Amino acid sequence: MYTETEIKSLIDKALTSTITLKSPAELYEPVLYSISVGGKRIRPILCLLCYNLFKETIDNNIIMPAIGIEVFHGFTLIHDDIMDNAAIRRSNATVHKKWNKNTAILSGDAMCIEAYKLVSQTNANHLPQVFEIFNKTAAQVCEGQQLDINFEGKFLISDNDYLAMINLKTAAMIAASAKIGAIVADASISNSENLYQFGYNLGMAFQIQDDVLDTYGNPSLFGKIIGSDIISNKKTFLLVSALIRAQGKQMSNLENLLKATDIPNNEKIKKIKEIFDELEIKQLAEARINHYFKTAMEYLNNVDVTQYRKENLIRFVTDLIDRAY
Ligand code: IPE
Ligand code: IPE
Ligand code: MG
Ligand code: MG
Ligand code: MG
Repeated sequence: MYTETEIKSLIDKALTSTITLKSPAELYEPVLYSISVGGKRIRPILCLLCYNLFKETIDNNIIMPAIGIEVFHGFTLIHDDIMDNAAIRRSNATVHKKWNKNTAILSGDAMCIEAYKLVSQTNANHLPQVFEIFNKTAAQVCEGQQLDINFEGKFLISDNDYLAMINLKTAAMIAASAKIGAIVADASISNSENLYQFGYNLGMAFQIQDDVLDTYGNPSLFGKIIGSDIISNKKTFLLVSALIRAQGKQMSNLENLLKATDIPNNEKIKKIKEIFDELEIKQLAEARINHYFKTAMEYLNNVDVTQYRKENLIRFVTDLIDRAY
C-alpha cells in the first residue's frame, strides 16, 4: 500500500513530466505556473488512494486520469479567480493578476484541453466509463459555478439551494475522483457507488470548511485573501445561515452591509464577522462539516475491503477535514 506522501510524489512527478512549456510561451507559461505553485492535490490523491484499496500497484493507467482531474481543477480555479476577482491563490498572484484576463481565459482553456488529453490516456477497457463520469462532472462544475454567481445577486438563498450549488461546483468532482479510482481498479458496482457517496459527502464537508476558512482562516496557511467571500457577497454557508437566523436589528444591519457601496472592505469584513459570531454561525458550520464527514465515513465503512487497506485513506481524509488551510 502507498502512503499519502508516496502518492503525492507520484502525482507531482507525473505532472512535471507531462505539463511542459510549449509554444507560444505566453499561452503555456501560466499553465506551468498554475501547476507548479502547488495546491493540496486532494482530487488525484483521493483517486489513487481509492484505486489502491483494490489494486496493489499504481501505474500510468490510473495516474493519467488522476492528474487529468487535477489539471481540470487547475483550469476551473484560473477561471474561478477571474469570476471571484481573487488576487491571491496558493499564496501567489492569481493568473489574471500576474498576467491579464485574456491570458487567464485562454491558458485556462488550454488546461481544460490538456486535462481531456490526460484522461483519454486511461486504458481502452475503462475509458468509456471514465469519460462518462468525467464529462458529466465537468458539466456539473460549470453549472455549480453559474449558480454560485447567480446567488451573489440574490438576497435570500435557502439551505437546500446552497447545498445543491456546492454539490455541483465542488462535491461532484471529489466524488468522481474517488469513483474513477474504483472504476479503473475494477471494483464492483456497489464498491464504486459507495466510494462515490463517500467522496460526495467528503466534498460537501470540504466546501463548507473552505467557506469557514475564507472568513476565519490563517492567511499564510490558507493561501487566499481572508474575507474575500464577504467582500463579494458570496452566498457561503456562513452568509446563507446568517440570513436564515438573523432577526430584527441584526437582519437590517446585515441587509445594509450587503447593500453598502461606500464602506471600506476591512470594515465590512469586521462587521459581518461580528454578526456571524453573535449568531454562532461558525459552530453551526462545524456541526454541518462533522455531519457530512461522519456520513462519508459510513459510506467508506460499506466498502467491501479489509479495514487495514483503508488506513491510509482514512488518515488522509481525517487530516483534510481537520485542516487549517
Ligand atoms: C479550491 O480547491 C476550490 C474549492 C473547491 C474550495 P482546493 O482547496 O482543493 O485548492 P488547491 O488545489 O488545494 O489549491
Ligand atoms: C470554487 O469555489 C470551486 C470551483 C469549482 C472552482 P470557491 O470560489 O469557493 O473556491 P476558492 O475559495 O476560490 O478556492
Ligand atoms: Mg468561486
Ligand atoms: Mg473563488
Ligand atoms: Mg472559497
